[in-house]
Amino acid sequence: MWSSPRFLQRKNPMTSSVPAVTPSRTALVVGATGIVGQNLAARLVAEGWTVHGLARRPRHDVAGVLPVAADLLDPPSLAGALKDLRPSHVFFCSWMRQATEEENCRVNAAMVRNLFAALPEPELLVHAALTTGMKHYLGPFEAYASGEPPVTPFREEVPRLDLRNFYYDQEDALYEAAERHGFSWSVHRPHTVIGYAVGNAMNMGSTLAVYATICRETGRPFVFPGSPVQWDGLTDLTDARQLARQLLWASTSAAGRNEAFNIVNGDLVRWKWLWPRLAVWFGIEAAPYPGHATSLEETLSGDAELWEQIAAKYGLTESRIGRLASAWHTDADLGRPVECVTDMSKSRRAGFLDYQYTPDSFADLFTRLRAERLIP
Ligand SMILES: NC(=O)c1ccc[n+]([C@@H]2O[C@H](COP(=O)([O-])OP(=O)(O)OC[C@H]3O[C@@H](n4cnc5c(N)ncnc54)[C@H](OP(=O)(O)O)[C@@H]3O)[C@@H](O)[C@H]2O)c1
Repeated sequence: MWSSPRFLQRKNPMTSSVPAVTPSRTALVVGATGIVGQNLAARLVAEGWTVHGLARRPRHDVAGVLPVAADLLDPPSLAGALKDLRPSHVFFCSWMRQATEEENCRVNAAMVRNLFAALPEPELLVHAALTTGMKHYLGPFEAYASGEPPVTPFREEVPRLDLRNFYYDQEDALYEAAERHGFSWSVHRPHTVIGYAVGNAMNMGSTLAVYATICRETGRPFVFPGSPVQWDGLTDLTDARQLARQLLWASTSAAGRNEAFNIVNGDLVRWKWLWPRLAVWFGIEAAPYPGHATSLEETLSGDAELWEQIAAKYGLTESRIGRLASAWHTDADLGRPVECVTDMSKSRRAGFLDYQYTPDSFADLFTRLRAERLIP
């Protein structure tokens, strides 16, 4: 059993004397080009924050974000890139997938530790928020949903699983830095994130958009690739914009400090209800469910050239299928043999009341992908 450490803030730069160059709401979004980070960065800019966006290859897709190019695994590059920054808030939205969970733990915890070690004056930080996810409850990819099925809905109060898990190590690195430097923290656990990002590691929404587009172009059946439990059962999803709202809330509310929170849209869906609705958006029909999982990674494995042809035919801006589709991840999430439902009571009771209608998460994403000429 673990318990959340609670720290008193030792110093608050919003009220104590700080250099004049430090605006009161300056965010450092770590992983600012990812699906979580970029949607958060857009929200923070819209709310009037000064936003620095860190990535190895920062881009300029989100207007107003000040790019910071640094590798979290290269402390000298990190220190150099951060030397003039004095953020009031850090939002850690980064991860790197490794071959084993042991490696995931080593690398991903080091990324968190290196970040806080490289900040020139970490005692000026007010709050740092870390995004993890449902693998906190389900276990790491290599032992995904393999043990005793977790009791649903997932609640923040359950003890950690007795398994190596990079989320636990990232949390511990955050707690340690918060204690050492006197800032408050929050941890956010989304379910599968639906939102706009190109070239990122895990994006179910754009993966399904590519699959549906290929089905429409070729006449192939649009088959739900997941398990019977996912097809029939209740589940939920997390719009990246809903996650951004919770990150913002927790980072600026007393009730959000020093707590871990689940974050999902707030409605429940069954894939057998949602799948035909996604098909309608693309003007195709959902195929009958075959009663078993069908690997989407295999289905799309030979389609790189086909996507290049579709991109050429419609003048799309991204002809590399791998920049839009992450079928391995969609297979992992939709193939889960256990029910995945998430409890939102904790943050609701603490004052976070935002809600997102899940079909709109997909429709808004597909509309944006089309507007950006990423799908026809
Ligand atoms: N995507 C989902 O569906 C989902 C669902 C639940 C939970 N989560 C969790 O949410 C968290 C954030 O994931 P995400 O999906 O938003 O990730 P993502 O889309 O893959 O983005 C990762 C970000 O981190 C940056 N990055 C990676 N390695 C870096 C390094 N060494 N130095 C500096 N920047 C680096 C990437 O940019 P560069 O490559 O340019 O460096 C990118 O900006 C993770 O813990 C993930 O497990 C995600």
